[in-house]
Amino acid sequence: MNVQNSGATHSSEAATAEEAIALQEALPDIITSEKATEIAMQNTLLTPRFYTTDFDEMDAIDVTPVRAEWDKLIAQMVSDPNKGHFKKTEDWDKVDWDGMEPKLKAEFIDFLISSCTAEFSGCVLYKEMKRRGSNEDITQLFQLMARDEARHAGFINDALREAGIRVNLGFLTQQKKYTYFRPKFIYYATYLSEKIGYARYITIYRHLEANPELRFHPIFKWFREWCNDEFSHGEAFALLMKTDPKLTQSFTNKLWIKFFLTAVYSTMWIRDHQRPVFHEALGVDVTWYGQEVFRKTSEISKQVFPMTLDIDHPRWRKGLDKLQDANIQIAEAKAAGNPVKRVFGMAKAGMAFIGLLTIKSIPNEAPDDVRLEPVY
Ligand SMILES: [Fe+2]
Ligand SMILES: [Fe+2]
Repeated sequence: MNVQNSGATHSSEAATAEEAIALQEALPDIITSEKATEIAMQNTLLTPRFYTTDFDEMDAIDVTPVRAEWDKLIAQMVSDPNKGHFKKTEDWDKVDWDGMEPKLKAEFIDFLISSCTAEFSGCVLYKEMKRRGSNEDITQLFQLMARDEARHAGFINDALREAGIRVNLGFLTQQKKYTYFRPKFIYYATYLSEKIGYARYITIYRHLEANPELRFHPIFKWFREWCNDEFSHGEAFALLMKTDPKLTQSFTNKLWIKFFLTAVYSTMWIRDHQRPVFHEALGVDVTWYGQEVFRKTSEISKQVFPMTLDIDHPRWRKGLDKLQDANIQIAEAKAAGNPVKRVFGMAKAGMAFIGLLTIKSIPNEAPDDVRLEPVY
């Protein structure tokens, strides 16, 4: 029996983020993996980062303009529909890690480590907001979101542990570099990452629901309820943005939103194209998957953003491919220790990104009533 299965000490049953992390930390190291933590520590343009912000400014948000929708969302989160979901049950089939094709194993582990880091990055930020704030609405929301993200990160870490790997979350909290983002950038980036997270998880879930023979790991069975958490978190950020119309309507902020949309979409594209064997095993065409996730995210983001990206524009896919080529060039240069090639690769990536930014976006009139339900 797995240690993590032993009843009440499971992190998914923790009521708060602090408890969930403490339970994770208290579990014995079956095999400590410095390498996994090292990967999670990386700070590049493509890896998940930890963020810090102006917590006082965020604490000053007044949710009165969205009070009715706010209270409904918070009540739903307090009711905690996923309490107990993030626990291995008899649905958790035995994973044959040793028999897994080595390339697939490497890419899948990379996927899990990066997902765990991204989940935990949310937990750290939300927990800090809860700790620093005194505004009851804000601290309650962030406490609830930190609770969910701690469970998510913990659950992935449980899955990794079966492969003899553990991301040291306590070490990460203390040692990983924090990137400062102004609150409005936190709203744009976090809103998008929650909604794109939902779109990613649900797209894989639905695909495997239709093709269960391709489900090579049980964790995918947990994705549906999981992504509903991410959906709610995104809803919260949509409401936060709605408290101040300038955040989505001023000329400068519209440019920022377009920038964040382009950056988040293209980062996802490159990261996913770095895992061809993983996607092949799932029977997912990575290019189709990318566009499908963008389509869902764009549709959802119409609830609050003043535009969507034109992902059917002829220059969109070409631009992403150029970015992808540049990224390969940078990786090759890095491996070969060739700084000149690397600089050229980075310049090429920069040009490709600017090319994507210059594609005219599609204007959108966000509705007064923000709230959405997960429908995919
Ligand atoms: Fe999450
Ligand atoms: Fe989330």
